[in-house]
Amino acid sequence: MRMKRKDSRRIKALFVSCALCVLTAAVLSMQGCTARTSRGKNMKIGVVVYNQTDTFLGELLQLFQKDVDGLRRDGEETAVLIRDAAGSQRTEDAEVQELLDNGCNVLCVNLVDRGVPSNIINMAKEADVPVIFFNREPVREDMNLWSRLYYIGADAAQSGRMQGELAAAAIRSNSRIDKNSDGKIQYVVLEGEPGHQDTIMRTDRAVATLIEKGVSLDKLSYQIANFSRAQAANKMTQLIGQFGNKIELVLANNDAMALGAIDAYNRLTITETNRPVFLGIDGTKEGLSAVIDGSLAGTVYNDKNGQAMKMAKLCDALFHGDSLDSFGLRDGKYIYLPYEKVTAENVRKYVVKQDE
Ligand code: BGC
Ligand code: CA
Repeated sequence: MRMKRKDSRRIKALFVSCALCVLTAAVLSMQGCTARTSRGKNMKIGVVVYNQTDTFLGELLQLFQKDVDGLRRDGEETAVLIRDAAGSQRTEDAEVQELLDNGCNVLCVNLVDRGVPSNIINMAKEADVPVIFFNREPVREDMNLWSRLYYIGADAAQSGRMQGELAAAAIRSNSRIDKNSDGKIQYVVLEGEPGHQDTIMRTDRAVATLIEKGVSLDKLSYQIANFSRAQAANKMTQLIGQFGNKIELVLANNDAMALGAIDAYNRLTITETNRPVFLGIDGTKEGLSAVIDGSLAGTVYNDKNGQAMKMAKLCDALFHGDSLDSFGLRDGKYIYLPYEKVTAENVRKYVVKQDE
């Protein structure tokens, strides 16, 4: 009798532990489900941007929000939550945590410091939320830390090469650019943030391309203006003070800085014949207007339309667990949109694109 009671207790214990096993397995399998089922029915995209005053990124994010809206599926809601890191990686990391706590099921990350994405990657991995980095490219090693990391941007070297080609063509077609007729082009470069892939590659390739095209160069100065119009205007004012009208060519790593350089000449009311040729990169609204009015000799279109649309589509596919085959991802992770050269001849095409 005693034995029997013991047996029945054993059976009960076995039953309870089995039930616990089943329950644990169910919970575990639910946790392993796709982001969609474990993190809500609706797509909630968390976006962090290194600095919301950046002109190019402001335009890109405006397009992105429109694109996400356009892709909304019947019966579903979408939300895009944007946070500004205002130049601090620590702030950005905290914002990512807040967005995850808020239930975001896809993240789009524009790093402040592209060298330290590891905190963000760990948080996203922990929550099993995929991350699309954009515009500021992490290094390969970091991109390989997890399978659900993606990058959308453009090939920095290509933009530099195209800027060099535009400058070489302008110099070839107008002998007055060599103002002192010494057979060399006295030039300055206005550079973006140090360490940014677009700063390093654009400067390097633009100058190398001019040399390859047979242009003799005379380097006057390289100045960092962090992609900012105001900083570029200050730096250019100093350069004009130092070199006077010797400067024949200004290569700027982006349109904002090219426009800042032009601002400096305007403020000093320097006459047309004493101005250099200016080249930018991006094709922002203001950059394109400057190509139209002739103050900017050319720019290179950084395809914000394409980047925004791809990012919206990739968010949508990741959230719904769709196949990514149609994205043609390079190495399973990367999307690079091509750059295009913009001059007075074709600029209208890009203005139209902007207003679509
Ligand atoms: C753009 C710059 C922008 C920078 C921000 C670059 O691709 O050309 O205008 O400031 O990205 O990361
Ligand atoms: Ca010269």
